Amino acid sequence: MRVNVAIHRDFGVSAIDERLYSAFIEHMGRAIYGGIYDPDHEQADERGFRRDVLALVRDLKIPAIRYPGGNFVSAYNWEDGVGPKDQRPVRLDLAWRCKETNQVGINDFAYWADMAGMEMMLAVNLGSRGLEEARHFLEYVNYPGGTHWSDLRRSHDVPDPYGVRMWCLGNEMDGPWQIGHKEAHEYGRLADETAKAFKAFDATIETVVCGSSNDQMPTYPEWERTVLEECYENVDYISLHKYFGNNGKDTLNFFGKVEETGRYIQAVAGAIDYVKAKKRAKNDVFICFDEWNVWYHDREKDTRRIKEWDWPVAPPLLEESYNFEDALFVACLLNEFIRRSDRVRIACIAQLVNVIAPIRAEKDGPAWRQTIYYPYQMASLYGRGDALQVAVDAPRYDCRVADDVSFLDVAAVHDAKSGIITLFIVNRHLSESADLNVSLTGFAAPKLAEHFVMQGHGLNETNGPDHQDKIAPAPGSGVGVEDGCLRGKLAPLSYHVMRVNVS
Ligand code: AHR
Repeated sequence: MRVNVAIHRDFGVSAIDERLYSAFIEHMGRAIYGGIYDPDHEQADERGFRRDVLALVRDLKIPAIRYPGGNFVSAYNWEDGVGPKDQRPVRLDLAWRCKETNQVGINDFAYWADMAGMEMMLAVNLGSRGLEEARHFLEYVNYPGGTHWSDLRRSHDVPDPYGVRMWCLGNEMDGPWQIGHKEAHEYGRLADETAKAFKAFDATIETVVCGSSNDQMPTYPEWERTVLEECYENVDYISLHKYFGNNGKDTLNFFGKVEETGRYIQAVAGAIDYVKAKKRAKNDVFICFDEWNVWYHDREKDTRRIKEWDWPVAPPLLEESYNFEDALFVACLLNEFIRRSDRVRIACIAQLVNVIAPIRAEKDGPAWRQTIYYPYQMASLYGRGDALQVAVDAPRYDCRVADDVSFLDVAAVHDAKSGIITLFIVNRHLSESADLNVSLTGFAAPKLAEHFVMQGHGLNETNGPDHQDKIAPAPGSGVGVEDGCLRGKLAPLSYHVMRVNVS
């Protein structure tokens, strides 16, 4: 198939907020215990965190990390996780029917996030608790000293406050499964009062209010409108969550879920615009897509297991094995976030280690990269700068979730500092290669600087502890600049990162 892509220097989308490449990690399964933290592992540092896991996390250059949940946060007492470890209580975690040992709490996690070079984005419990505990937590975390909660932190060997700027006001409060689930208007009121108190403490704090748990919820998108009408002026972001799967074994329909996500983003942006207009508000609210990933391979099995088990400590849970098809999907989804970076400012892959994660940490073995690690890494490393509009003229297809889906999925980012345009391209066609022609108008003498490609794998192929680089980017060939245009042949089912020097 022939494909033309047009990019023009003067037609941009938005400056990309680097937090578009953030991550999420929760106290569940082996994400924290047996994931980032495992004092018995040979790779553990003096505080019990695995060095090999940390190295893989660092290579992703993740700007921010959302913590500690997730569903877990809705019945979590943050005070249980501070102070001497031998005095911390073991509690029941009602979200995942496990025991929480509290051996990792805010100060331990902050140490790890700092080593990984990530800013923390903390969620407060607005399920079983409320404004009172949330403001105590804020004071413990962010106030320098001389007050009850800040002095408690100082007594825990943390003299300086963390200065956490992003705060999530609960988690998925629309979900009936959530401990302390609320109706839209009651949650909206609570979120408003909590956000107001946080901003009274420090006006530069950014708050994230819970949108729907996904776009299939019966209360979506009325939830967004009602909640925002209660709290619009005191919030900076509204969250979106969406998990994806190819249950029907229909690859093109799976890829079509990226278009469905575009509609979801557009609808929530519409709710934001409606409430802003209704309230004659001056502030803007952006989207924080703070949970996204593929999650379906073992989902039903895991749901059954949770119901049956007897409150274990850190059992393996949601340990999805990702294949090549999932990597292609993740590449397309990240492209959608870049294309909608005008509204989506923050996005978090859910999660980071072991639990629906790009990184797997074997109990007594190595840490390794799953297939989806790579498109996430490529976007994080090279997707910084200004998102450009891309006009794509390619054959299209209809599927169950969307019509008129382009076989070629493209996003483009211009980094003015380095003078490089990065094109992220997926040829989603199952059998046809694409004869690509990209015109780059308004840019001087383009030269192809680098080309990475993932291709030639079976859709069901996976990586593993002893072959973590099997499905990974390799240097590409067959693409070059002719007459100022980027031209080449892209194999069916292939992912490309083309870095073009235009300085
Ligand atoms: O990431 C797993 C779970 O998915 C999170 O705890 C919850 O927020 C979502 O439903």
